This record gives sequence, C-alpha cells and structure tokens, in this order.
Amino acid sequence: MCGIFAYLNYMVPVKRQQILDILIGGLQRLEYRGYDSAGLAIDGGQGECQDNILIIKQKGKVAALQQEILEQKDIDKETPLLCHAGISHTRWATHGEPSPRNSHPHRSDDNNEFVVIHNGIITNYKDIKLFLEKKGYKFESESDTESIAKLIKHLHSCHKNNGVTFQKLVAETIQQLEGSFALVFKSTHYPGELVATRRGGPLLVGVRSKVQLATNAFPIIVSGGASQDGTYPDGKTVHPLMKQLSSDCTDGSDAMEYFFSSDASAVIEHTKQVIYLEDEDVAAVCNGKLNIHRATLDDSNVRELITVKMELEQIMKGNYSTFMQKEIFEQPESLVNTMRGRLNYEKGSVVLGGLKDHMGEIRRCRRLIMIACGTSFNSAVATRQIMEELTELPVMVELSSDFLDRRTPIFRDDVCFFISQSGETADTLMALKYCKEKGALNVGITNVVGSTISRETHCGVHVNAGPEIGVASTKAYTSQIATLIMFALTLCEDRISMTDRRKEIMRGLHELPEKIEKVLLLDERIKEIAEELIHERSLLVMGRGYNFSTCIEGALKIKELSYMHSEGILCGELKHGPLAMLDPGMKVLMVCTKDRVYSKVLSGIQQVIARQGRPIVICNPDDNNVHDMAYKVIEVPQTVDCIQAILTVIPLQLLSFHLATKKGLNVDMPRNLAKSVTVE
Ligand code: UD1
Ligand code: BG6
Repeated sequence: MCGIFAYLNYMVPVKRQQILDILIGGLQRLEYRGYDSAGLAIDGGQGECQDNILIIKQKGKVAALQQEILEQKDIDKETPLLCHAGISHTRWATHGEPSPRNSHPHRSDDNNEFVVIHNGIITNYKDIKLFLEKKGYKFESESDTESIAKLIKHLHSCHKNNGVTFQKLVAETIQQLEGSFALVFKSTHYPGELVATRRGGPLLVGVRSKVQLATNAFPIIVSGGASQDGTYPDGKTVHPLMKQLSSDCTDGSDAMEYFFSSDASAVIEHTKQVIYLEDEDVAAVCNGKLNIHRATLDDSNVRELITVKMELEQIMKGNYSTFMQKEIFEQPESLVNTMRGRLNYEKGSVVLGGLKDHMGEIRRCRRLIMIACGTSFNSAVATRQIMEELTELPVMVELSSDFLDRRTPIFRDDVCFFISQSGETADTLMALKYCKEKGALNVGITNVVGSTISRETHCGVHVNAGPEIGVASTKAYTSQIATLIMFALTLCEDRISMTDRRKEIMRGLHELPEKIEKVLLLDERIKEIAEELIHERSLLVMGRGYNFSTCIEGALKIKELSYMHSEGILCGELKHGPLAMLDPGMKVLMVCTKDRVYSKVLSGIQQVIARQGRPIVICNPDDNNVHDMAYKVIEVPQTVDCIQAILTVIPLQLLSFHLATKKGLNVDMPRNLAKSVTVE
C-alpha cells in the first residue's frame, strides 16, 4: 500500500513554501499507508518562472523528506505562484528496496518531462520495460512505476506535437497497463495541469472553491464526446458546473483548488467536498477545470460531489473503530495482494519470483526449518503439515528464542525459513545470523520490503499484506500462511502424483477471498458471543490437525488483547491434563471442521460435554454432528484442509477484538507489547 497526495491551485496565489507544507501535511496524514520512503515533485525555477520540475525524494518517514526540503536552500520558496500543480507520495515498498532511487515520483527522463506517483502493482511492467529499453529508454530504478513514466513520454513522442491533450495521453497509457493502480501525472509539457486515474486502487478528488458550486454532480465525458473545456461538440450540453468553473469568470470566482488523495484523511482539513473516482475514470484538471473522462460509460453518467462528514481519526480507519478491526476486515484484499502475480489459477501455476533462482538448491536440501516468534511462529505451525505432505521433507518448526537457547544443530544442506511480519524481530534476526554462520540457505518470509530480515536472507518472499498497524498481527498472519502454502506448491510442481492435490489447493486459494467475506459476516454473532464470554475466568481453545494453529493463535490473540487467560490445546492431549480444568458449565471454544481428524475432534467435543462443559464450536455449515453436541456454533465455509485454518482463525480474531473492546481496552496498542520487538 502506498499513499498518493497531489495539490493544484488555479488563480489562487500560493507560495512554494505553502505548497510544500500542504504536500507534506497530506503525506503525514497518509503515512499509515506506507512509511519506508517519500517524495514529491513541484515546479522548479525562480520567481514566477516555472520552467522545470523539481523532484525531491528521501528514504524513511515523511519527516526525513521534510528535513531534506529544509536543507534545499536554492529553492525559491517565497514567490507566490498563481497556478501550480504538485504531487507527492509515501511508499510501502513492493518493487525494490526503500531508497530515494526507488521512491516516487518516478520520471520519464533526465529532464523530468513526465512524473508520476503510483499506488498498486503493474504486473506487466517487465514487458513494458523491455519494449522501452529497445527504444533506447534507460531505467534508473527497480520500480514497476518507472515504466509508466517512460511509457507516457514514449506515447507523447509518438504524437509528434499534434496537440494531444494530457488526459488523452494518460488514457492511452493506462490501456497498456495490467495490474492495479491509482496514478497521478504531472508534466512540463502541460504546466498547471494534473491527470489522475485508477484501476483497483482508491483515489478521490477534493474540490475547494470560493464560490458555491452550481451543482454537486460532475458529468462523465465519454472520450471523444467533449472538448477539453467540457462543452460537447453539438454545442448543446454545457454542464452548469462547467460553466461555473469556466475561466471566462473575471471576478476571482474562477479560483479553484484540487486535492487528489488515496483517502479523505489527507483532504478534509482543506475541503470536505470530494468526488470518489471509479475504476477507469481519467480525471484531468486543465485551466482550473476538472473533467472526468472514460472510454465507456459505467452505470452512472455523473460523479457526485460528496460532503464528507466524518472526522479525521474516523477517516483514517475508514468505518472501523481501530486499525486492528480494519486489518481484520482487509483480509479478502490482503490475501489477493499476497497471491497477485504469483498464483495463476487458470494456468495452474505458482511462481514465487523471490525463490525461483534457488529452487534447485531448496529441492536438494536435507530438511526445512521454520523459525519465528509469536503469531509468525503460529503460521509455521499452520503450514507444517502441508509442507511435509507436498515436499516429502522433514519439517521443523522453531520458536526463535528456544532455537537459539538450544544451539540447535544446523547443517549446510538445511533450508531455514525466517518468518516475520516486521522483518526486524531481534530473536529471529539472531537465529538468522546463527544459521548464516552454519552455512544453511536462509529464506525470509517478511511483510516489510527493505527490512533487516528481507535484506539479510539469501532469498525470500514478501507476503505483501500491506502495512499492519495494530500490534496484534491479523492480516499478516493469514498472508504468511498463504505464502507458505504457495511455497509448498512450487516445490512439488513436477510431481505427477500430486497433480490433483495441487489443483485442489490452488482452487481453495483462488476461492479464499470470497469465503473470507462470508466469515466476516459473522461479526455480529461473534460480538454477542464475546458479551457472554467476557466474565469467564479462562478461555480454552481446543482442536487438532490443521486447526491446532487456530487454537494457539486464537488463544494468543485473546491473551494479548483482552488480558484474559487463554490456552490453545491439542485435543489429542485432553486426557493428559487439560480435562482436569473443566468445571461444569464452563464454556470452551473448539474448532472442528470436516477434515481427516474430524471424528477425533468430535470425540474431543464428547469428552468436554461428558464433563458438563459447554463447547462453542467453530465448524462447517450444516454439520448435524456438531449441532447435536455444541452449546453454540460458529459456521465458517468449508475449504481444502490445509487452507481451512485461515477461515477458522478469523472468528477468533474478531472475538479477541470484541472482548477487548467490551472491556474498554486499547485494541491497537495492548499494554506491555510492541509491534516490532527489536530487543532480545
Ligand atoms: C517482485 C516485486 C513485486 C512484483 C513482482 C512482479 C519487489 C520487492 N517485488 O516480486 O512487487 O509484483 O516482482 O514480477 O520488487 N527477498 C529476500 N528475503 C525476504 C523477502 C524477499 O531476500 O525476506 C528477496 C527475494 O528473493 C527477491 C526480492 O527480495 O529477490 C523480492 O522478493 P518478492 O517481493 O517476494 O519477489 P516477487 O514476488 O518476485
Ligand atoms: C510481537 C508482536 O510480539 O512480535 C506480535 O506483538 C508478533 O504480533 C511478534 O507476532 C513477532 O513479530 P514479527 O514481526 O517477527 O512477525
């Protein structure tokens, strides 16, 4: 995830310093979307002369960019500019490590003729890059976005100064792009203009005007249907707002300001009037007028100007009360991002770009060892069985601290996986250092591009779940599981005997986002269950097989958020101790889905009710066996056994959230815990 913010003033005198302040302010609001580097582009030049584009970029937080700007002494920050277009970006790296070179804005050439900011992923950028390289374009970064800046310059040169509009150029450019994006373009060829567009990425336009706008609906112009000033060729249809915004006005009422942003949080301090763009809209501001173009009409022929009523804090979290809740509900999307460009369901292939050069070595290894802490460790537990099944290799799972305490023997032909959301956890890093010394092949599974684990491992996979702000990991966990399953699939791709199993798992992964949507619909029911459980002394979570990971992860979530005692228990161990804890009437959480150990878990449920325990069971729909015994059921869709844990853990993520909320606790920052534990 990245953050986009752009500001255009027309007939409003604004000093460069103020423009920079507005851009930096916008980025600070969007910093939660990504914070490994930031950059902006404004017009350069001295006095009112704006003859070139100045790009300033810096690695790290927005504050580092701010400092960089302070140090730039030769920018004329004081002369007011009547018309100016500035763009800015805060990055969460996906293509290439965080560095000024890989940061946005990206440019078309040394003269910065076209500059662009991007949120999303261009999946065919390698093809575009190859094409442009053959035409002589020299690339300077590892980013997919750079190909867009160079492509638009190329298309511009194809028009040979025939007066093509900026909007048309952008429309032509996006026709060539595959993947998802929100983009804002600026160009020396079109001073004072901005063009923004989206496909899959969020983007809105804030509008500020001194005069009351005549309408709150912007007509959509089907390409070729209207001229740049919004009048149609038949001369009949001039929308009232277009008239309002026409530069014929001479009384200052043509003064306009526009703010383009990934979300409303960066805009509402300037204006509450916003238009949410739809996929394939191309919004162009030229001569202070905003026109929205499309190649074809969608189901509406206008874009409404909406008055945003929410307060800032609310907007950053969308409709959610906390980041954790937002991240739980983002899982259908974060999992799509994890699999995007890697799992091709139609072709039946999985390619993990970060591992493909090491697959030979991995296939020849003696064993696989997964090393991690906390929730990341639980993702190793969730996938150990499928790793064993598909790779036919011995698989060990290790808590980083214990692995180090034992000085576990490691050999040159071991492959060690270091799983970490942050990529900075001290114990996991030390385990990595240890394995490096022993000569093993070290593979990182991290969410943060450019993190220490991502850099220090020989190779790896970024899980691409997007920034996770809540201390308790949720979406990173499910993305780690999906990533490790994809790894297991790549390792057995040449085994004919596993063809059907591979297909079944790929279908399961493909269908996962829509099944998660169904699980999320259980939220209200789980809230009621939380109400009932809040006074329990302890919450035991029981299951076995693939769902054991859900038990330990669910218990961890309940502990860290609600501060209640909770324990994940393997049903197979019930008779060996845990049954002693059962009091008559005690409520117990159990996970029982239709897999190979189903009947064994049913017998566990029987053992619980035999002691007058009251099991609340997470199960598949219409399971009469469970219904007959359970005190309550939470039904989640059935999927392939090795993926089921992703669906069964979500009710427990929601439960821990509701328990903590009902207790009035800080969900995003539980006491005594930190997101990134960088000390031993
Ligand atoms: C890369 C792009 C991705 C794009 C895809 C398209 C990057 C960072 N990723 O993804 O956005 O969609 O190409 O082809 O440019 N690595 C480690 N340790 C780790 C994690 C990763 O060494 O813990 C290394 C990998 O071995 C690889 C690089 O980092 O060399 C990028 O990894 P990853 O993002 O997973 O690669 P792709 O999926 O190919
Ligand atoms: C901390 C976090 O304890 O570190 C957990 O609070 C997380 O949510 C654990 O699971 C491991 O962190 P990471 O970044 O290595 O996955």
